[in-house]
Amino acid sequence: MDTLIITDVAPRDGLQNQPTFVPTEAKLELIRLLHAAGVPSIEACSFVSPKAVPQMADAAELMAAVGRRLPELRTSALVPNQKGLERAHAAGVREVAVVLSATETMNQKNINMDLARATAVCEDTLQAARALQLRTRAYVAVAFDCPFEGPTPLNTVLRLAIRMARAGADEIVIADTIGSASPGTVKTRFDALAGELPVATLAAHFHDTRGMAVANAWAAIQAGIRRLDASVGGIGGCPFAPGAAGNAATEDLVLMAEGSGLHTGISLSGLLKAVTFAQAQLGRELGGRSMAWLRRR
Ligand code: HMG
Ligand code: MG
Repeated sequence: MDTLIITDVAPRDGLQNQPTFVPTEAKLELIRLLHAAGVPSIEACSFVSPKAVPQMADAAELMAAVGRRLPELRTSALVPNQKGLERAHAAGVREVAVVLSATETMNQKNINMDLARATAVCEDTLQAARALQLRTRAYVAVAFDCPFEGPTPLNTVLRLAIRMARAGADEIVIADTIGSASPGTVKTRFDALAGELPVATLAAHFHDTRGMAVANAWAAIQAGIRRLDASVGGIGGCPFAPGAAGNAATEDLVLMAEGSGLHTGISLSGLLKAVTFAQAQLGRELGGRSMAWLRRR
């Protein structure tokens, strides 16, 4: 059976923008519930400036606890620079993700660097991570549209994805940061990327601002992509990208994939427990488009 690998980014993308601090123990419990549901890969946190993203200030404590309590789990952490990589490595992280935006303004807003500097910093960080024998992911953010500069040229996305691959990224994650993509564009862009890079190294990361995330995920699958990011309950969004709503909900993608003959290894009832827990923590209703139906089952 064809397999779809889902990375759940809820503990990082989902929690980074929450107004009230989620305690480390609760983050750990969310990760444990995702693991128990069969999620094969989890982006657990980010080692970024605590001034920029206070919600991720406990990344080192969290990863140390994950290493102790869930040693067999595949987790990763986002790192914006060498300092983040050093902190992640010291905390025992075995997989890191760098984030390069495809426009000048988005890099400035997100990591306070211009595009050339951000590209060089991501390349250096990837090379340093590989020297430490870590697995690596490289996000290419605003790969469809930028909230500040409008539509992103496909050639820029291709050029940056190729640079990240040459710097040693094991996985290139093409991200629809503000959830503005449509299935036709997704298919065209992933076909073009698959013409330049091994398709098995490509992943897709959708936000669901316009309700297109499941359709976009399906379009990526049609282009041969078998690695998707998602967030349980659909929580998420970049604090520095105005208009970014939650991520594609893990439960929606699992339902779509399993119903279409793709194996994910993820249990929907297990995800439901994770959503219920996250709701209690965040004090509001969560869930993807399928949630009302899932709860009635
Ligand atoms: P800066 O202020 O330009 O950095 O921030 P700096 O190098 O001048 O350092 C300033 C201070 O930060 C110094 O401390 C550094 O030591 C410290 P001070 O001397 O003032 O006490 N510092 C750090 N501390 C902890 N960890 C670090 C680190 N680096 C420097 N790694 C910086 C530049 C990149 C640090 C900052 O802008 C930052 O942390 N940005 C984080 C942005 C972020 O987390 N965005 C959200 C994630 S991206 C996303 O959501 C999109 C994605 O989901 C895909 C998609 O949907 O598109 C991935
Ligand atoms: Mg995101």
